[in-house]
Amino acid sequence: MRQAGRYMDEYQAIRKDLSFLELCKNPELCCEVAMQPINAFGLETSIVFSDILLPAEAMGLDLSFGDGGPKLANPVRSLADIEALKDFDPAIATPWPAEAVKLTKKALGKDRALIGFCGAPFTLASYMIEGKSSRQFENTKRLMWHDPKALELLLDRLTQNLIPYLRAQIEAGADAVQIFDSWAGCLGVDAFDQFALDWTRKLVAGVADLGVPVIYYVNGCDHVLEQMAGCGVDVISIDWRVDPQEAVMRVGGQVAIQGNMDPGVLLGPPEVAVAEFEKNVAAFQGNPGYIFNLGSGVMQWSPVETVAAVAKALRDWRPRD
Ligand code: CP3
Repeated sequence: MRQAGRYMDEYQAIRKDLSFLELCKNPELCCEVAMQPINAFGLETSIVFSDILLPAEAMGLDLSFGDGGPKLANPVRSLADIEALKDFDPAIATPWPAEAVKLTKKALGKDRALIGFCGAPFTLASYMIEGKSSRQFENTKRLMWHDPKALELLLDRLTQNLIPYLRAQIEAGADAVQIFDSWAGCLGVDAFDQFALDWTRKLVAGVADLGVPVIYYVNGCDHVLEQMAGCGVDVISIDWRVDPQEAVMRVGGQVAIQGNMDPGVLLGPPEVAVAEFEKNVAAFQGNPGYIFNLGSGVMQWSPVETVAAVAKALRDWRPRD
């Protein structure tokens, strides 16, 4: 995530003439920026360039991105707000990610894979309720404990809209899809089941017939690994706070694991980051289908030399005895 982005000069050059949201709505440029890290670092898998918040805009929220991150000017706080949301047809309201999938697939050729994505219902619901990034999720939790039925209605409406949104990317050619539940780590184990996992499970079931692997990411997931592994996905994507060897022991026989180097490591010098990379990969040995990844997005301050050094170490990596 944020494989493409602000740490690259080529990206900044494109972004100086248009906003992030305008970029997300321009499939040709989405393809171009998705290819920037692939070409610069020789990576073998790309993720479509888009954002998890496009469906929130399509359902009627006023979305913008500024220095403080995303902003939704008219957050939903009540049952009436939730009932007033629109359902959308992705082919009409959000055609860009599927179109970007087609163009990026073509640019990648047959030897490199492309991941499509969407936000998970809980994470999108919390953005729509808070109206911005949050530390404590106070509005979401207030609604959760005052009116759980209203929150469940929001989660249900999101799930029903996200199924066709994700299907459109798979039908356009995505080789796998990733569901980002970036904020679900703020929930205790029971609330995670009720307000995050049950809805992710429904979303996964809604695309299962299309037969592509599904990856489920939760930031702050150490306490819910077993639950994640049991929701019908093929891969779980974990953050950097989880001990890799423990994760392999707990769920490694059940799902492939993707992760989990701290993106902060990329702020260090190349040789230090490569040593951390080697350590991280070695700790996952024995997990069938393991995929190397960062535990969250590349930070905008990451030196390109460090990213390039880790990508080269990854390409050159071979199992050791
Ligand atoms: O190359 C890629 O990785 C693909 C694109 C991608 C972006 N966002 C681009 C982006 C993906 C997969 C996402 C997912 C996303 N978006 C998530 C889930 C992943 C995670 O980080 O947990 C979330 C929570 C969002 C919402 C969002 N979008 C936030 C919180 C921000 C601000 C991030 C920051 O670093 O300040 C964005 C903006 C965003 N999304 C940028 C990019 C390249 C930076 C936009 C810019 O100013 O140019």
